Amino acid sequence: MTSGALATRLTSTLTAEPDLGRWRDETPGCAHRNHLNNAGAALMPAAVLRAINDHLTLEAHIGGYEAAEERVSQTDSAYESIAGLVNANARNIAITSSSTVAFIQALSTIDFAAGDVILTSRCDYTSNQLHYLSLARRHGVRIIRAEDLPEGGVDPDSVRAIARQTRPRLVAISWVPTNSGLVQDVGGIGEICEDLALPYLVDACQAAGQLPIDVSRLRCDFLSATARKFLRGPRGIAFLYVSDRALARGDHPLYVDMRGATWTGPDALSLVDDARRFEDWEFPYALVLGLGAAVEYASSIGIPRGGGRALALATYLRDRLTTIDGARVLDRGRHRCAIVTVDIRGWNATHLVAELRRRHINSSASLGWYALIDMAEKHAESAVRLSPHYYNTLEEVDAAVEALREIVTGRG
Ligand SMILES: Cc1ncc(COP(=O)(O)O)c(C=O)c1O
Repeated sequence: MTSGALATRLTSTLTAEPDLGRWRDETPGCAHRNHLNNAGAALMPAAVLRAINDHLTLEAHIGGYEAAEERVSQTDSAYESIAGLVNANARNIAITSSSTVAFIQALSTIDFAAGDVILTSRCDYTSNQLHYLSLARRHGVRIIRAEDLPEGGVDPDSVRAIARQTRPRLVAISWVPTNSGLVQDVGGIGEICEDLALPYLVDACQAAGQLPIDVSRLRCDFLSATARKFLRGPRGIAFLYVSDRALARGDHPLYVDMRGATWTGPDALSLVDDARRFEDWEFPYALVLGLGAAVEYASSIGIPRGGGRALALATYLRDRLTTIDGARVLDRGRHRCAIVTVDIRGWNATHLVAELRRRHINSSASLGWYALIDMAEKHAESAVRLSPHYYNTLEEVDAAVEALREIVTGRG
């Protein structure tokens, strides 16, 4: 399809959304900002703010521990909602302070020894790569990154071949990396892990809220995700899915605390039997309720519907960006999502992001080292990351493109 034809087709679909006005009315931030940084942290809907504020107010009035006891059933409902989001049971959900912490908790279930292999992808998230490097330093773990497909994204055949040969202690894949709209084939890798009985950890941080998640189809042992991105929850809260298989094996984080286990004798501990063994005793109840409200809100709209609209806006945006002189859209892969990255010849992304911010347009900069291998292959030192969500409008996307054009042609 030609660029013009694509834009016309998307324009009519995107302007026909009957609930857009309501979604925007329910999002206080829409009145102030053109927010295209949902891969950073999305704008929270009013229902999420209310859930957090109500609980903080209750804590201030009756005491933090007492407020937690009063809200036990609402807290339980938050677990149920999160479980529903990923097609699991509440007993499989642990709430953590960040997606990174969720990931580390899962990683720390394994007693790595020198020579053990972690099999991952070339596009896996920065901090995950840093964890592996740290494990390599301390325990002599070997990091093997599977080959990519020619169109981008991890190649399942390469994963299978390496896995057969090296029997990794862990296979870990970022579903969507931080620095591009690439969607990796986590389902395909899950089948391989199941065939070969290999532990499998999925980083779904950028997927949650924009892609439907079904852990039974992913066949993963663990899956980490955050509230603040496409789920539109608050900052500082995230979750980990822990499979029944992992619970039955007795998997637990290295530093289990008194929420996750009981001290049963001077030299003995007993683990709790559900995923809460991956949690900390101290717990941000207000944020947990905010996360629950965010998941309920997302579910009321429907992930395929919200994510589908976000993707259509991103596809439109990619098309429009190609009309800027020197602009190069960097997103690769057979499947892409609502993260759009663009390199504009001769321009540093940090500068462009600051210029957009001056115009009340929110975006973020992906620096080369955030995705060292991928960005080097793309010959990009940095990229502007624009990530629309379903509550954004076509006009906002157009405004961002025109602002970038103005900046780089010196008209701004
Ligand atoms: C793919 C991916 N994984 C993990 C993370 C880490 O999430 P958090 O900052 O909640 O630890 C991010 C953050 O941007 C991410 O993009």
